[in-house]
Amino acid sequence: MSQRTFSIIKPDAVRKGYTAAILAEIEKAGFKIIAIKKLSISKSQAEGFYYVHKERPFFDSLTSFMSSGPIFPLVLEKENAIADLRKLMGATNPANAEEGTIRKKFAGSIEENAIHGSDAEDTAKFEIGYFFAGYELA
Ligand code: CMP
Repeated sequence: MSQRTFSIIKPDAVRKGYTAAILAEIEKAGFKIIAIKKLSISKSQAEGFYYVHKERPFFDSLTSFMSSGPIFPLVLEKENAIADLRKLMGATNPANAEEGTIRKKFAGSIEENAIHGSDAEDTAKFEIGYFFAGYELA
């Protein structure tokens, strides 16, 4: 059954001019782009998105980074989208990411790691709703 997931092309990748190359990898892997937008978020909007990490030592730095420049939030659809996108992204730390993954190719560090992808159905639902209204997902 087809499934939706949520992704963000992060500020580091947008700054380096990797947006189109990352979208090409995503489409080549069989994902349909259901929705996409470009925007910049405030620090408090980044804090709301990453609230599950609020006790982590990297929370302040992560939310400053995520509000440091434009991002591309995406809604993607395919069979097994959540797990398949995580496989395509590679490990959080690009130093541990497998050859051929998006983070291996485009990420610079464990924080500035080019792309986000939802880790489960309930987080995908929350994250899609954080950035997109229902009418944008038809
Ligand atoms: P993401 O998949 O968006 O989920 C949480 C983000 O926090 C992660 O990607 C990284 O950008 C960042 N992150 C995770 N672990 C660390 C860490 N140990 N140090 C700094 N940033 C991290």
